[in-house]
Amino acid sequence: MNSKPIGIFDSGVGGLTSAKQFLAIMPNENVIFLGDTRRNPYGTKAKDTLMQYAIDDVDFLQRRDVKLIIVACGTISSNVPAARLKNLKVPYVDVITPTVNKVVKTTKTKKVGIIGTPATIKSGSFANRLKRLDKEIETMSVGCPMMVTLAENGDIDENNFVANSVIKEYLAPIKAFGADTLILGCTHFPLMSKIIQKVMGDEVTLIDSGYEAAIEAKKILEQKDMCREGERDLLEFNVTGNTEKFDEVANIFLEGKYDVHSKKADIYD
Ligand code: DGL
Repeated sequence: MNSKPIGIFDSGVGGLTSAKQFLAIMPNENVIFLGDTRRNPYGTKAKDTLMQYAIDDVDFLQRRDVKLIIVACGTISSNVPAARLKNLKVPYVDVITPTVNKVVKTTKTKKVGIIGTPATIKSGSFANRLKRLDKEIETMSVGCPMMVTLAENGDIDENNFVANSVIKEYLAPIKAFGADTLILGCTHFPLMSKIIQKVMGDEVTLIDSGYEAAIEAKKILEQKDMCREGERDLLEFNVTGNTEKFDEVANIFLEGKYDVHSKKADIYD
């Protein structure tokens, strides 16, 4: 038993995809969320910059004495190996491992599409790990930076014209490739999963990397006997940028369940 909170971080609203799932499957756990919205997007930044951002984010959460951290960010998971995070002191769950494990069990045709930020796609993280698990798997990857901006702006409605057009354009090569499984390798993308599913067609399975990371975190807490008992009494959302915009998108995505009023966090001191 361990009653400390868990920490979840991302560059912004994308981390909510992990948070949503974790809050649902672990109702006793306290959660401290950090969205580094002031420095968002992460997906267009260089590796050394991403390393510094990850160190800052981990520091912030560890100052709050979390017992485990979910890095609900495909970009950090792909570009900053946990072993290089010298400040890391607690178990750390990234989005790559649970996602690729799910994909190998899901794909039948072994043709897998991958969408993520430019930094994630450039790293080859998902594609290389999949190949290591099954060398017959073929992948087609596309970097989709504008989808991060759309999600941060709250342009996520199923009927949003711009979101529909942008997503259709980005997914065209993956559709032509004929993938039966599509990795949403950026945690921002499941906020637009209805549009993505419509564009890809119902026969394509979408794999939500943030969701898979939340399930992995549950497994680790149980294996290490680190679960909390009693009802949740702490759920905190911290952002480094505009709190109002974050709250608006968060309350839509979390379907009003948690009445999000984020706090302004200064993580850079
Ligand atoms: N949500 C993050 C990811 O999964 C970062 C998106 C961004 O800030 O560019 O890659």
